[in-house]
Amino acid sequence: MTQNPRKILVTSALPYANGPIHLGHLVEYIQTDIWVRFQKQRGHQCTYVCADDAHGTPIMLKADQLGISPQELIAKVSTEHQRDFAGFMVDFDNYYSTHSDENRDFAALIYKRLNDGGHIARRTITQAYDPEKQMFLPDRFVKGECPKCGAADQYGDSCEACGATYSPVELKNAYSAVSGAKPIEKDSEHFFFKLGDFEQFLRTWVNTDDHVQEHMIHKLNEWFESGLQQWDISRDAPYWGFEIPDAPGKYFYVWLDAPIGYMASFKNWCDSNDVEFDDYWGESSEAELYHFIGKDIAYFHTLFWPAMLKGAGFRTPTKVFCHGFLTVNGQKMSKSRGTFIMAESYLKHLRPEYLRYYFAAKLGSGIDDIDLSLDDFRMRVNADLVNKVVNIASRCAGFIAKKFDGQLGASLVQPELYKDAVKMGETIAQAYEQREYARAMREIMHIADRANQYIDAAEPWVLAKQPERAQDVQDSCTLGINLFRVILSYLAPILPQVADEAAHFLNIDGFAWDDIQTPLLNHRINKFKPLMQRVEPEAIDKMVEDSKQSMPAPAAPTAPAVKSPLAAEPVADTIEFPDFAKVDLRIVKIAKAEHVEGADKLLRLTLDLGGETRNVFAGIKSAYTPEQLEGKLTVMVANLAPRKMKFGVSEGMVLAAGPGGQDLWILEPHQGAQPGMRIK
Ligand code: MSP
Ligand code: ZN
Repeated sequence: MTQNPRKILVTSALPYANGPIHLGHLVEYIQTDIWVRFQKQRGHQCTYVCADDAHGTPIMLKADQLGISPQELIAKVSTEHQRDFAGFMVDFDNYYSTHSDENRDFAALIYKRLNDGGHIARRTITQAYDPEKQMFLPDRFVKGECPKCGAADQYGDSCEACGATYSPVELKNAYSAVSGAKPIEKDSEHFFFKLGDFEQFLRTWVNTDDHVQEHMIHKLNEWFESGLQQWDISRDAPYWGFEIPDAPGKYFYVWLDAPIGYMASFKNWCDSNDVEFDDYWGESSEAELYHFIGKDIAYFHTLFWPAMLKGAGFRTPTKVFCHGFLTVNGQKMSKSRGTFIMAESYLKHLRPEYLRYYFAAKLGSGIDDIDLSLDDFRMRVNADLVNKVVNIASRCAGFIAKKFDGQLGASLVQPELYKDAVKMGETIAQAYEQREYARAMREIMHIADRANQYIDAAEPWVLAKQPERAQDVQDSCTLGINLFRVILSYLAPILPQVADEAAHFLNIDGFAWDDIQTPLLNHRINKFKPLMQRVEPEAIDKMVEDSKQSMPAPAAPTAPAVKSPLAAEPVADTIEFPDFAKVDLRIVKIAKAEHVEGADKLLRLTLDLGGETRNVFAGIKSAYTPEQLEGKLTVMVANLAPRKMKFGVSEGMVLAAGPGGQDLWILEPHQGAQPGMRIK
């Protein structure tokens, strides 16, 4: 039975306002939404807030690139995000923005309290500065050669080739990713949050009351061992964010005001719903506060955030729930494979509830990554939802409608079967509560199996032909429909629209958790309409195709003569050295070579750049068979804009020497040549 109503506030991480929602994000928003819907169904007072994370350098630069103001950019993205979330039935009580008055006020208040408490330090640091763009460069915006292995085009904080971490000043031949200029070093004063002041508090917080998951406790204890550093919370102008009070030209770093956005969004909701903010956020609040996040942002939510709240006199989170990352078909989402799927592209082809169910069927309470295997997705949804669950209703509904005028019988023929299904409710509720959705789905499908077995044995379609067995037909279908109701009640957090339509069919108000204690007897139901269609493979193929197409447009189209943008100038037939220097030539290994159906010159090559792979179409079929190529090395242009060709997207170009035809040469493997090596 449901306990007294709990007061629960739930958040999902705030998505950045510079890009679209994709299926990876949706793992989190769907996981959270299911939990919230479950709590509401149980009769608790549960509020779900979120917002766009609207500050920071990437948003400033993106707006710049698009020639619009950051305000315009974040307004546009916010509309798109909310459209996509609604499309997936993610039902926030409030969706706000970190660029809001409430957030500015809370950020200032928290900063002031931390400062008054002596938890803010100031000191001068040296950083990379772009003399052309006149701005300090975040690590990610300085690029150059790795100081350790020499790999080209590495970011200022770490090397993707060898994994080394370093500071941007250590990069060789560094350049600004914003302007291309050579960065200089420049001093400025920064503000730091003294995280170490809270070490004792954090150690206790982390290790008690399941504030974080088991796996995170280990991770956090490692972080404690490596020492809690002071956290740099200020950035110099030009910056897109909130200016720090009494510190002209200094701004709060985006990650300072981002989690405060949870409070701001909730405050904004409180003001129009007549709820006391302090009941939830006051130091001695008894309300529960849960943050759902991805494992990449755990440090912010399990160290900085509780420490900030503690230092500023607010309550700390009841629990931080961390989840893993999404892979598609066993691999990282990839644009060229068409598996970097935007929410919008999915919704053009498939129903949101399929994905909600599939994620639920895979999600546990841990931080393991979850895989969306597209074939498994289709088969699982068809087998479980269409063939098992919806089938129960469609097998029984017709007889009740035709023979009994929609009227269910007066009793349950096998009350034990119904009682067992209802009794499972506590186990299923526990699984939902603990975010063990996969377990909940298994239990629910178990009940559906038993319901189908019952109907198989009762054979109402046989009985219906024998007038003297009419009562048996009504009885068996009444039990079947009641079992269907129990199952739909359990699935309601996962399948909101199916549940609404089923409620209409069953002629009931909805699925409050305890309603199933009383079966539907002597009750008239409505006409049954099919609740869910099968997932067709073509729909998935189209979605994948669409996802390949939504790649950035090629910079230069396929036309042979590219006209100079300076139309009056004749097209030069020599190029300057800087133009040549822009070409990123690499030695790569041909990992795989395949024929392309319908192409007589092209082969499809999978190129290994030493850690990264690319799909490239090359016109070298006249000189080599695929077998001859595999394992060989070649030179490729690695920074050519991806180009959509008739047979797929080509992500670069390979170079071969020779007059053409059969005379084309590719490099033989050589000890000194390693895939990924840059050519000087
Ligand atoms: N803006 C920050 C969060 C600030 S919270 C105060 C951010 N934004 S994000 O858009 O990059 O990610 C939003 C959430 O989606 C994060 O919890 C992140 O872990 C999650 N995911 C983003 N890509 C994901 C996958 N591929 N798989 C699963 N979750 C992923 O981080
Ligand atoms: Zn390196």
